[in-house]
Amino acid sequence: MKMIKKLFAGFFITIFFLQCNAQEKKILTAEMNNVKLSFHTDPEGRPIYSVTYKNKTIIAPSAMGFVLKDAPGFYKSFTVVSTEKKTFDETWQPVWGEVKNIRNHYEQLTVHLQQLNTPARLLNIIFRVFEDGAAFRYEFPKQDSLKYFVVSSEKTQFNLAGDHTAFWIPGDFDSNEYEYSTSPISKIDNKEIVEKSTAIAVRTAPDRYCVQTPLMMKSADGIYINIHEAAQSNFPAMQLHADNKTFQLTSCLVPAPGGDKAYVHAPFNSPWRTIIVSDKAAEILSSKMILNLNEPSKIKNTAWIKPMKFVGVWWEMQTGVGGWNYSNYADSTDRAGNLIRNATHSANTANVKRYIDFAAANGMDGVLVEGWNTGWEDWFGNWKENVFDFVTPYPDFNVSVLEAYAASKGVQMIMHNETSGSATNYERQMDTAFRFMNNNGYHAVKTGYVGKIIPRGEYHDGQWMMNHYERVAAKAASYNIMVDMHEPSRPTGLQRTWPNWMANEAGRGNEYNAFSTGNAPEHETILPFTRLMGGPMDYTPGIFKLKNYGADPAKQVHTTLAKQLALYVTIYSPLQMVSDLPQNYAAHPDAFQFIKDVPVDWDDTRVIEAEPGDYITIARKKKNSLSWFIGSITDEKGRTATIPLDFLDKNTRYVATIYKDGPNAGWKNNPESYSIEKLEISSKTVLTIKLAEGGGAAVSIEPVVL
Ligand code: NOJ
Ligand code: CA
Repeated sequence: MKMIKKLFAGFFITIFFLQCNAQEKKILTAEMNNVKLSFHTDPEGRPIYSVTYKNKTIIAPSAMGFVLKDAPGFYKSFTVVSTEKKTFDETWQPVWGEVKNIRNHYEQLTVHLQQLNTPARLLNIIFRVFEDGAAFRYEFPKQDSLKYFVVSSEKTQFNLAGDHTAFWIPGDFDSNEYEYSTSPISKIDNKEIVEKSTAIAVRTAPDRYCVQTPLMMKSADGIYINIHEAAQSNFPAMQLHADNKTFQLTSCLVPAPGGDKAYVHAPFNSPWRTIIVSDKAAEILSSKMILNLNEPSKIKNTAWIKPMKFVGVWWEMQTGVGGWNYSNYADSTDRAGNLIRNATHSANTANVKRYIDFAAANGMDGVLVEGWNTGWEDWFGNWKENVFDFVTPYPDFNVSVLEAYAASKGVQMIMHNETSGSATNYERQMDTAFRFMNNNGYHAVKTGYVGKIIPRGEYHDGQWMMNHYERVAAKAASYNIMVDMHEPSRPTGLQRTWPNWMANEAGRGNEYNAFSTGNAPEHETILPFTRLMGGPMDYTPGIFKLKNYGADPAKQVHTTLAKQLALYVTIYSPLQMVSDLPQNYAAHPDAFQFIKDVPVDWDDTRVIEAEPGDYITIARKKKNSLSWFIGSITDEKGRTATIPLDFLDKNTRYVATIYKDGPNAGWKNNPESYSIEKLEISSKTVLTIKLAEGGGAAVSIEPVVL
């Protein structure tokens, strides 16, 4: 009897393997218009995928899977057990955003894999192919033989078809605050850049060939490729190791202290690995693939989430005119002999009232105040856990007086919680901090993670910190608080799931012009193709005094004034700072009108022309309105922007107000020169606007009221 059973078992196993082998030769595909994805397992049972666009190879056959700690490899010896295919087509409305409606249209291929080893472990790979690219994620199903495990590395590769031009920043585990390097894949080497970095977080020397995502590339035959990830939840950030010879990119996950990459409890989904592709650069900027791959909002009632513009007691500290510290507090006199109290501590009640008055007079929704709470004497680089408690103001900052004053003027106060890298301290204090906000009229918070993450030395982009950022967003949501994070990992579309997590810095902002050598004129033409692919950026635009704003006369912003206006359109954020000092806006009331008018929430967006590293022109339609706003920027080269207005309503007459660089403007010698022109226009008009070196133009278009 035993013998017969064995024979039967042997027979069925043979049939199973024969079937598997037959399947392994089979190429599975998914496609949508010009994008096609193929999948197969090779003779060693390795999962392999590839992607083409208009029949050109974008990703040549590339490996997949993981190395697990103290367990057999999870990247080979697989056989395809079954597959499923479906198409999906749905249009949804974001709580806020660049467009009113987002179409999520894809073909999905799910491949159920089983390893032939004992115990037989299961892995699913889910592929989605969109009109604008392809994505995939790993799904670890619930199974007895793989329950709790540690990921030691990810094997995913992106085998490029050539030595593309890449726009990259080094794979620092702690900071994304770099300028971009533009080089062929074969020349990626970030050793020197990391050594010279002025990034204010901690610099962690990475593998010198590792770069961060989103990685923007352009092939010799004009194909634009962007590699990033979506829905990066409970998993470390994926960086990419670039092989200079084979042009093979391999995932390198940001580690936990000690070197493990991720701690996983199945069932579990990895983030999506995304490949956005087009032969038009503008289409890369219009892609909604990353948002589409994220889960819908977890917040049911979103009525309290409101995009806004805000001013702040901030730039004066960045430029050294004032300070965060109270201990430098001193009474002093101005040149006319008037007594000035709190000369160096900017967050004093009188000064904050000045900003509230300015916000109220100019229709700005909020006022951010930094340096209001105790601890700033001792916050930077000392690795102490309890520097801040987020509820104790300095003696010259009167919380209740300011709450009442702001409320009487219809202005919101915006809270600032700098954690100085002490994320565990923040987790302990969060409820107290958010309750304090609820009790004192604050509906939004700017958080910050300057410095090394303490106490354990986690990296800003590792799994633990990813969970921390999401915990902050979720906890803030439970208190109806909107969040703007500084120094987090770069976004991956989680703002769809947590629409109160409205903005992040997560890149090199305008502030670098205040305390470092600054940002090159091309910087803002690259950011939308890289940093902004995953979500809005709190770049802090709007600097009007572009030279001599601090003690060091060598410092200057590397744009013209008109370009600072244009950034309100080209850099999307639902929380947009109006960053300069009230007196600097008062010096240019006519140009300031554009900042007063420009909205932060849109019904439609058209990318009119774009080239990473060179120029960007974007038009956006204000929410529930016929008004449009255009921003056009260039790098260090002057150019003429050609802007057909065919997106305007055919039957409406409009007036355009054009804010442009003056005839002799230039970022270097004459940045504050601009001119303003009003024109009657229609959908047939084509605007041609000259942009200075490092310049830009901003246009507001209002329907003519008859
Ligand atoms: C760095 C942030 O980017 C900046 O905006 C803030 O003022 C400082 N940290 C202090 O928190
Ligand atoms: Ca920063």
